[in-house]
Amino acid sequence: MCGIFAYSGQKKSAGDLVIRGLKKLEYRGYDSWGIAYSENQKIGLLRKVGKIGEFDLENTALPQSTLAIGHSRWATHGGVTEENAHPHVDAQKMFAIVHNGIIENYKELRDELQRKGYTFKSETDTETIVHLIADYAKENTFVTATKMAIKRLKGRFAILAIKADEQKIIAARRGSPLILGVGENEFFIASDIPAFINHTKKVMYIDDDEMVVVNEKPHFYNIHSGEEIEKRVVEINWEPQSAEKGAFEHFMIKEIMEQKDTIYRAINQKDSEILHLADEIKKAYGTFLIGCGTAGKVCHAASYLFSKVAKRHVNVIVGSEFPSQQDFLKEKSLVIAVSQSGETADTLEAIEVAKTKGSKVLSIINVEGSSMDRMSDYAIHIKAGPEKAVASTKATTSQLAILTMLAYACDNRLTEGKRLLIDTAGEINDMLNPRYEKHIRALAEKIKDFESMYVIGKAVNYPIALEAAIKLQEVSYIHAEGFAGGELKHGPIALISDGTPCIAIVANDETRTDILNNAMEVKSRGGFIIGVSPQNEDVFDQWIKVPDAGNASPIVNIIPIQLLAYHLAVLRQNNPDMPRNLAKSVTVK
Ligand code: AGP
Ligand code: GLU
Repeated sequence: MCGIFAYSGQKKSAGDLVIRGLKKLEYRGYDSWGIAYSENQKIGLLRKVGKIGEFDLENTALPQSTLAIGHSRWATHGGVTEENAHPHVDAQKMFAIVHNGIIENYKELRDELQRKGYTFKSETDTETIVHLIADYAKENTFVTATKMAIKRLKGRFAILAIKADEQKIIAARRGSPLILGVGENEFFIASDIPAFINHTKKVMYIDDDEMVVVNEKPHFYNIHSGEEIEKRVVEINWEPQSAEKGAFEHFMIKEIMEQKDTIYRAINQKDSEILHLADEIKKAYGTFLIGCGTAGKVCHAASYLFSKVAKRHVNVIVGSEFPSQQDFLKEKSLVIAVSQSGETADTLEAIEVAKTKGSKVLSIINVEGSSMDRMSDYAIHIKAGPEKAVASTKATTSQLAILTMLAYACDNRLTEGKRLLIDTAGEINDMLNPRYEKHIRALAEKIKDFESMYVIGKAVNYPIALEAAIKLQEVSYIHAEGFAGGELKHGPIALISDGTPCIAIVANDETRTDILNNAMEVKSRGGFIIGVSPQNEDVFDQWIKVPDAGNASPIVNIIPIQLLAYHLAVLRQNNPDMPRNLAKSVTVK
């Protein structure tokens, strides 16, 4: 949620560099944006409402500055206005800050500062921080004042602070992402690595409750003890172009198409490590699969795979609900956190809860070096490469592939599981051809003006129906809901009227007859049945063919629905990469 980007170095084009960096981060938050830089010993500000992608950088004269900080906002406190856009400054315009997250005690801090005579120009929780720094700076250096201010903050945050007359950026974080990029006599600070990877592949990770003062050389400190911390420079092996759109019109379609090879990459893990992790699952006194949104649906699907393939019960809880279930956790429990970003606040909190109980944590994540990666006892990287579209696609199927592999490994059938996934990856490669996409686009044309649609599935494809609904909702804005096929007759079938589109996900297994009966129940009430299935069936009004992938059916079944959601979004003139009200990484609770 929210993108942060900053530059400090010798180039005088800091403003330009920061805006370009923010453009790469826009997928994280895009209701408003702004930058701050120092100009004649005062802070200069540029803030706008709207998408930074629409800002004409080429034809705008920016001030010559060697240091700038920037932010693209995903509002939590206060409407989307220029006053609420970051950066925020103090009354004298000596300090500027940007912030990602929520300051939970902002009301009491605001009251305290107002009693001291500070006036607030915005409705944000963020503005308290800058006045707090200004207040402490009356009697302290910039660095000490910032340390003192940060110590007072409750909640999750990533913060950057600058002072008009000092060439330094102070960065601090707790629970929200922030990474330092180390170039030749220059530094970048950003919410994610792809934002600066075209400048440097060298990074230093800022961990929770750490603060870094960046001038000629970065100095890291523990926020609480004030002690200096030694840090390593780590080299990243991502290619800059993997974070670009290339010839595709949107990241979402590029990432859907990348599933031609992301499954191969996901399962390319060391057998010994997968077997070791399978042993951890087998040894655990209770395994808890945790994720949010799409990742939560992946966990739900995995619970069916563990049951069917490994004859093993696993618990599934969405991240935000997990703290209320902590009484079931024991020291010997295992928590498996599934996340693309590795930064989702609700999932991070669940991990924190698990750690306080002494349970072990395995993360299945895409972003290497993310908070979850560093907090977990074990991690499996799904290696999907940067996923930029808000709607998760390639990360979803890679997570499913890893969990399928783990389920097989738990039943001592790792080789069989891998074989199945390799074959499935080959089938996906064949399936994702231009003819297939055209077929799905034509279907999108047919249903694009409907107000509601439904998706049904059974067993492992029930969570896939739920995930399909998320995909359709978030980019097409059509009201979509997923159901277990058998549940429809207990209420939701009342929603079906003449022509209502209903996608039936039909696997070629023991669930086929039941789900076809459910589809028939919908058709009998006027529903328009779109079948996603290896073979055509009488009940289908429209058929989307998928390979017969056995236990890997969730992976192949979700892909055409991702494509359908994408084309519905485009036909309805929505931006599929940046759907309204959403952000890629939900780093607030
Ligand atoms: C996916 O399409 C959604 N945008 C969202 O549900 C997402 O999966 C969720 O916020 C979890 O994100 P994570 O995988 O980065 O933890
Ligand atoms: N809470 C802050 C605000 O509403 C920061 C939000 C963000 O992370 O973008 O401005």
